[in-house]
Amino acid sequence: MSLLPLVLLLLLITMAVATPLRPGFYSKTCPEAEFIVRDVMIKAMIREPRSVASVMRFQFHDCFVNGCDASLLLDDTPTMLGEKLALSNINSLRSFEVIDEIKEALEKVCPGTVSCADIIIMASRDAVSLSGGPNWEVKLGREDSLTASQEDSDSIMPSPRANASFLIDLFAKFNLSVKDLVALSGSHSIGQGRCFSIMFRLYNQSGSGKPDPTIEPKFREKLDRLCPLGGDENVTVDLDATPQIFDNQYFKDLAAGRGFLNSDETLYTNPETREYVCLFKENQGEFFKAFAEGMIKMGDLQSGRAGEIRSNCRVANGRPVDILLESGL
Ligand code: HEM
Ligand SMILES: *[C@@H]1O[C@H](CO)[C@@H](O)[C@H](O)[C@H]1NC(C)=O
Ligand SMILES: *[C@@H]1O[C@H](CO)[C@@H](O)[C@H](O)[C@H]1NC(C)=O
Ligand SMILES: *[C@@H]1O[C@H](CO)[C@@H](O)[C@H](O)[C@H]1NC(C)=O
Ligand SMILES: *[C@@H]1O[C@H](CO)[C@@H](O)[C@H](O)[C@H]1NC(C)=O
Repeated sequence: MSLLPLVLLLLLITMAVATPLRPGFYSKTCPEAEFIVRDVMIKAMIREPRSVASVMRFQFHDCFVNGCDASLLLDDTPTMLGEKLALSNINSLRSFEVIDEIKEALEKVCPGTVSCADIIIMASRDAVSLSGGPNWEVKLGREDSLTASQEDSDSIMPSPRANASFLIDLFAKFNLSVKDLVALSGSHSIGQGRCFSIMFRLYNQSGSGKPDPTIEPKFREKLDRLCPLGGDENVTVDLDATPQIFDNQYFKDLAAGRGFLNSDETLYTNPETREYVCLFKENQGEFFKAFAEGMIKMGDLQSGRAGEIRSNCRVANGRPVDILLESGL
């Protein structure tokens, strides 16, 4: 007996075209959803202030790799190398337990209803507004991926060494403008990065054997002290001067040569992006508006592949179709 017709049938059933996202998607099926997410985020923030920044970063690393589908959250399996150990994520992404906590709370109230992909979108919005940044209405209705791809993450996610022209081109591939790029980089208004991400900048920029000349000297002395050559590269450093407040300090820092990452400072060095750094530095309202718009656009990225509502964000539900496909049919 051939299993093929069954497989095809199951595939057809699950091959959903990208569903239109909309505000209030859970208003009938799980009206408390947004309150529950916010509640857990508030608790996480009290427990560890940095955790909300870490959670907000998930939206970028999830949405750029095959759409906002929570592929990022899948643990590796014997047959799948997931995204958690990808170049940009390993020893770096953190606070996955906050998402687990949100998911558990949601499963208790409305089991099998709210996707992990939507949790990331709601939690990222809350991270920003709870830190003093803008608030915005999120569109919901995403599904969770059945799989994840380390290879795709490795080839897509930008390195901290990236320059502005590279980032402009990368963001353009996702229909994100130069303004979106600069505004979204303003996410580095909260959180921290590791010395590992700036060692080349401090000691061997572009293979020159010298530091990046755009770093302001006093700031470089401070970074040299925190991140000495041969020291512990897991030491973390604030991404701007007010790392728990979502504000436009990040842009003021860039203009003063006090950006942490090469990818940050380059936004001021490059004339095309500098225009927006200056706008956001002078006008926090413009930054907040552009940031919310950028997050909504980034949240619209979808792969169009079949999805599901995971009951545990770390593992696919493992329906018959997955098992059949994994067995090589
Ligand atoms: C424009 C290109 C970007 C690059 C090259 C970049 C790169 C990085 C790097 C290297 C770190 C520090 C990681 C470490 O050292 O362990 C970091 C941290 C962070 N990134 Fe980005 N990023 C970019 C854009 C974004 C975007 C669009 C968002 C969100 C909308 C975001 C949110 C964050 C946050 C919140 C942190 C701090 C996380 C924490 O404290 O745990 N980044 N980013
Ligand atoms: C920016 O980075 C790209 C890719 O790494 C490189 O080819 C290009 O020369 C760089 N541009 C500038 C202006 O440094
Ligand atoms: C960008 O926009 C174009 C035209 O609207 C569309 O065809 C394309 O799929 C979009 N790309 C992404 C990555 O969303
Ligand atoms: C700096 O980088 C260049 C090119 O990657 C490399 O050849 C050189 O050995 C490095 N120098 C130091 C001091 O690490
Ligand atoms: C950072 O810590 C991790 C374990 O948490 C370790 O595997 C890794 O080698 C360390 N990385 C650096 C650059 O020191």
